[in-house]
Amino acid sequence: MKEQILQLEREVREAPVGNAQELEAYRIKYLSRKGLIPELFEELKKVPADQKREVGQALNQLKNLAEGRLKELTASLEGSTNGQAQKLDLTLPVNQYAIGNQHPISLTRYRIIQIFERLGFNVSDGPEIETDWYNFTALNFPENHPAREMQDTFFIEKNPDVLLRTHTSNVQIRLLEKQKPPVRSIMPGRVYRNEAISARAHCFFHQVEGLYVDRNVGFADLKQTLYHFAKEMFGADTKIRLRPSYFPFTEPSAEIDISCFICHGKGCNVCKHSGWVEIAGSGMVHPNVLKNSGVDPQEFTGFAFGMGIERITMLRYGINDLRLFSENDVRFLRQFKPVM
Ligand code: PHE
Repeated sequence: MKEQILQLEREVREAPVGNAQELEAYRIKYLSRKGLIPELFEELKKVPADQKREVGQALNQLKNLAEGRLKELTASLEGSTNGQAQKLDLTLPVNQYAIGNQHPISLTRYRIIQIFERLGFNVSDGPEIETDWYNFTALNFPENHPAREMQDTFFIEKNPDVLLRTHTSNVQIRLLEKQKPPVRSIMPGRVYRNEAISARAHCFFHQVEGLYVDRNVGFADLKQTLYHFAKEMFGADTKIRLRPSYFPFTEPSAEIDISCFICHGKGCNVCKHSGWVEIAGSGMVHPNVLKNSGVDPQEFTGFAFGMGIERITMLRYGINDLRLFSENDVRFLRQFKPVM
């Protein structure tokens, strides 16, 4: 009998059980009413009285061992299948999900696009790595003209013809080459200038170009379009002012100012106490530009404008340092929601 118990102890401990069926077979073989262990309890009656105590104890130990293993196996099999829910600790704190948000430059770009799309402008795109022709020469910058100096950029030593575009005006030419007027398009994108980085200047920034070429487009159209834009962007009581200016690719040219929406003309830091804030360069497309892109200036006229997205974003959100836009500090970036 002792022999049998020892033998069974080993079996009970080592019997391989890998799934629910084997588990049930295990239970039946060792622990069910007609199983091996209850059978031994039956036989205990026949054991001589002086050994009963000892054998009985061993038998109880065996039974406990088998029941323990059965419990363990049941738990681990449940854990690896559909019993998992029982093991999930729902009181554990979850990993916080950081929800991102849009960059303030993107928010302003979307808003600008939205305003012009409602006027029938579509959105176009052009390369940031550009040739001298599209960035300067086709835009009527004479060779060695000082206007090129105002837009110093990054060149490639191997090929001085290749540069990083200094403005989005290159897309004007590329668009007119591809598409016959009428053309009504805005062209957002990144531009580059060789400038020392400070709170007010950076070696790259963003612009939105606008171009409208058709028969009978006049200066009044330019003015009305930008007036509408200013009111949509900065509020219905915004006024605009046009100041004579110079760009090689527009004639006549004008800088567009808006009335300061912070002090409403009374004078503050943002408008430097002038009551006006500059937001764009603009003008009527120079006939040479139309010619250079294969459009007949006798038949078509147009206006163009270009504005800095950073500048408009700084005005909208009251940001005073350009470097914040490219430093990727989430404490800054997290703060922005669409306005209007
Ligand atoms: N490209 C000019 C600049 O970057 C802006 C501009 C665009 C002016 C279109 C007139 C017309 O300063």
